[in-house]
Amino acid sequence: MALIIDGKKIAAGIREELKTEVAALKAHLGDVPALAVVLVGDNPASATYVRMKGKGCEEAGIRSIQHTLPGSATQEELLALVDRLNGDPAVSGILVQLPLPGQIRESAVLNRINPVKDVDGFHPVNVGKMVAGDEDCFFPCTPYGCQILINSVVKDLKGRHVVVVGRSNIVGKPIANLMVQKNRSANCIVTICHTAAPDIGYYTRQADILVVAAGKAGMITGDMVKEGAVVIDVGANRVPDPADPSKTMQVGDVNFDEVAPRASAITPVPGGVGPMTIAMLLKNTVKAFRLQRGL
Ligand code: GUN
Repeated sequence: MALIIDGKKIAAGIREELKTEVAALKAHLGDVPALAVVLVGDNPASATYVRMKGKGCEEAGIRSIQHTLPGSATQEELLALVDRLNGDPAVSGILVQLPLPGQIRESAVLNRINPVKDVDGFHPVNVGKMVAGDEDCFFPCTPYGCQILINSVVKDLKGRHVVVVGRSNIVGKPIANLMVQKNRSANCIVTICHTAAPDIGYYTRQADILVVAAGKAGMITGDMVKEGAVVIDVGANRVPDPADPSKTMQVGDVNFDEVAPRASAITPVPGGVGPMTIAMLLKNTVKAFRLQRGL
C-alpha cells in the first residue's frame, strides 16, 4: 500500500514558516505583504476559494484585501481595478479569481497585471521566465505545490520520467515545465499527454511520477499505473455522494482504491494537492513583497 502524501500537513508547515518570515519583516520594516484578491460575480466555488485565500493570508500575517465586482461588470471596469491595484504601492500581489464571466476576456485581464505583482504566475512574462528557468518570477501555485509534494517523496529526481495528463495553462503545461528544468528539484524526463492521445494508458504506464490534471473523475484506473509509481492527483471533481445522493463529494481524477495499492506514494483528494495551492500563493505574495523592495 502506498504512502499517503499529506498535503495538508506539508502546507501547514509552509504556512508556519511564512508566518515567522512575515513577523520578521514586520519587526524589521514595520510593514507586511498584502494580497488583493478580485472576485467577479457570485460563483459559489470561486467565492469559497476567495474566502479561503483571505483566511490563509490573515493566519500568516499577510494583509488581505478583497474586491468584489458584480457578474455584470465590464472588461473595462475590471481592467480599471487592476490598473489601480498595479499602481498601489501597498499592494504586493494581485489575484483575479478565474473563471471570469463570458463578457470578459481572461487573457486581457491576466496580461494587464503588473508581472511583479502576478502571484498567480499567469502573466506571459512570468510564464516565459519560468520556461527559461529564471528564479525571479512566480510559479503558478498549483504546479509549484505539486513539485513540492513530489520532492517530499523522491529525493533524487534526475532522469525520472514524469508523465503529465492534461495540458491546461494553470496546471499541465506549467508542471511539465517545472519538472524538466535542470535543477535539483527537477531534472526529469517529461511527457505531456492529453485528450488527443488514442490510449492515455500507453503513456501513464511509463510514468515513475504521474501527475493527473485532466478534470475527469476517476479516469486513472489501476491498470494505467506502473507498480511503484508516485501519483499526484490534481483533480477536484464534485460528484454525487453515494452515501447520500442529495449531497456531493469531492473526488480526484485518480481511482484511489485501484491505484493506491500499486503506487509507492499517492496524494489523497481532498487533502493532497488542494491545500498546497493556497500555501504557495502565500509564498508567492511574500516573494512579491521582497522582489518589490529589492530584498
Ligand atoms: N481558478 C482555479 N484555479 C485558479 C488559480 O490558481 N488562480 C486563479 N486566479 N483562479 C483559479
